[in-house]
Amino acid sequence: MKGTAVIELENVAYSYGGGELLSDLSLSLSPGSFHFLTGPSGAGKTTLLKLCYGALVPTSGQVRLFGQDRRTMERDDIAMARRRIGVVHQDCKFLDHLSVSDNIALPLMVSGRDLLNEAANLKELTGWVGLRERAGALPPELSGGERQRAALARAVIMSPDVVLADEPTGNVDWEMSQRLLRLLIELNHMGKTIMIATHDLALIRAAKSQVQARVLRIASRRLHLAGADL
Ligand SMILES: Nc1ncnc2c1ncn2[C@@H]1O[C@H](COP(=O)(O)OP(=O)(O)O)[C@@H](O)[C@H]1O
Ligand SMILES: [Mg+2]
Repeated sequence: MKGTAVIELENVAYSYGGGELLSDLSLSLSPGSFHFLTGPSGAGKTTLLKLCYGALVPTSGQVRLFGQDRRTMERDDIAMARRRIGVVHQDCKFLDHLSVSDNIALPLMVSGRDLLNEAANLKELTGWVGLRERAGALPPELSGGERQRAALARAVIMSPDVVLADEPTGNVDWEMSQRLLRLLIELNHMGKTIMIATHDLALIRAAKSQVQARVLRIASRRLHLAGADL
């Protein structure tokens, strides 16, 4: 394995077919690091996260997931890497006919784990995000903050090494965004590598007193390290 980074981008460019959206972008997430990714709407935050979890292949440059070149990875390699990367999607979709608990357990079912063995894990995680009382509810009955917490639980049920969260505090009030932030910081304290895409600068400022985080900003197609002037 080359280097020690869990996810590495080297001179990456990405285009959906039109002009280049991201250009000459390099990034290295070391184990246990905490990153924010910011930039205006449409700058390419979600696209960059997709490159980081292997859902997109760069137009040029190299992406390495756990030391492996994305381009040389076969389906199974990608599936293996994806188990080590928990993703909280921007639009957190659920299966509306399944309970919150079953939705959180979905990655376990998909990967063929024995759910009986995982019952304690599932219960603990549901409690950790504060949804024990809502475990039997259906997703449409959840508030925005409850949905985000269920999405976070689902992202970490497979005990990933990395958690990528795409606007995890969108559509929730300040108090709830603080609560979600605390959960992500707790995961980081457990050793997980965290990257949060957000346009919420107040959230980043609030985090700065609680965790050592690097702030990356996408502007004019490139990635910049944001200074202390945030
Ligand atoms: N699947 C796609 N096909 C074509 N264009 C896309 C696709 N997904 C996103 N885009 C475009 O790429 C740009 C960046 O999108 P996105 O990565 O979602 O930005 P952000 O998350 O920073 O708001 C936007 O202009 C968006 O419309
Ligand atoms: Mg986005």
